[in-house]
Amino acid sequence: MQTILITGGAGFIGSHLTRLFVNKYPQYKIVNLDALTYAGNLENLKDLEDAPNYTFVKGDITDMLLVQELFRQYAFTGVLHCAAESHVDRSITDPLAFVKTNVIGTVSLLQAAKDAWAGQMEGKVFYHISTDEVYGSLGDTGFFTEETSYDPRSPYSASKASSDHFVRAYYHTYHLPVKISNCSNNYGPFHFPEKLIPLCIHNIINQKPLPIYGKGENVRDWLFVEDHVRAIDVIFHQGKIGETYNIGGHNEWTNIALVIELCRQMDSKLGREKGESEKLITYVKDRAGHDLRYAIDATKLKDELGWLPSLQFEEGISKTIDWYLNNREWLDHVTSGGYKNYYEQQYHKR
Ligand code: NAD
Ligand code: DAU
Repeated sequence: MQTILITGGAGFIGSHLTRLFVNKYPQYKIVNLDALTYAGNLENLKDLEDAPNYTFVKGDITDMLLVQELFRQYAFTGVLHCAAESHVDRSITDPLAFVKTNVIGTVSLLQAAKDAWAGQMEGKVFYHISTDEVYGSLGDTGFFTEETSYDPRSPYSASKASSDHFVRAYYHTYHLPVKISNCSNNYGPFHFPEKLIPLCIHNIINQKPLPIYGKGENVRDWLFVEDHVRAIDVIFHQGKIGETYNIGGHNEWTNIALVIELCRQMDSKLGREKGESEKLITYVKDRAGHDLRYAIDATKLKDELGWLPSLQFEEGISKTIDWYLNNREWLDHVTSGGYKNYYEQQYHKR
């Protein structure tokens, strides 16, 4: 029997993680703490509303008193910490918001867990969900391993690197039973359309320009979100305390090749002429400090815990497009209001 606090469960990855844990472990009690920022959306969790082992709490991870109270009330045995400000472009315009949630929020959770678990750390797990961006930017060759030195280069990745350091500091200093994973780019249903793939799907549907930063030659290693949360499940239950695991898809794409593939699949699904959507591709001003390439070596996770990605990219992207085409209402809701202002500010000058 476990009682688990998931933070950021109403976001993209958090909602898939919450769904997996609530459905796979009916004997666990799952509490989802989420501030419902622009990125959090309870529509992502509609199917879980009536699940007897699931509770939602609206609140901020930087609210130390609330977090302490939740530890008292629910006597958590585990934490899956997903809540974060997650978009690199937003970190360039508002770095302090990233320091607040990603650094101060993480330390608040660590401190509350340390106090609540004092003298009884056995069997507890504080799992911190992090990113490959902490390792910096690769050239044309090589991979990030768990031994790669940290070299964050955006305010987002600097805040995530800082939070990783705090997690390790609580392990070494207070023996807090922590685990960390650093994952590559995720894609799939419920992905907020500020990120490349859902933004392009949304714009292709609406026949709007597809903004490609710089020359489109930057490379990302894409992993289907359900494979990511499956890895988290395996590491949470079987990974070693104090260890870090890299998670990745061995699936590198330049941004331009990826967007062309999206256009190809969507033209065919929407019954449009071959090549029609590609005409929407528009090269725009590059992202400041744009990391060239990320690529993960996930050998440790495969060799020690037997995890492998389950989906080929073309299949995963096809499933993802189908989900967006079948969930237009979700897409309409998240792209109304605040999204329009964000889009205008982010793209009108590029
Ligand atoms: P997201 O932006 O979709 O969701 C973040 C969630 O956290 C939202 O529900 C939001 O409401 C909540 N939140 C934000 N600030 C909060 C606060 N102060 N208190 C409580 N809740 C708050 O993010 P995501 O893409 O699902 O990423 C989840 C985690 O995974 C992040 O830690 C991110 O760094 C990491 N990660 C993401 C990716 C990716 O490709 N998306 C890859 C690797 C790692
Ligand atoms: O690598 C893991 C990281 O992946 C996560 O930690 C982050 O939370 C997540 O947002 C993601 O970061 P990226 O910056 O790689 O993702 P994004 O979708 O914003 O951009 C992917 C690539 O596409 C990147 O090279 C920038 C480029 N891009 C992005 C947008 C939004 C464009 O060319 N045009 C765009 O409009």
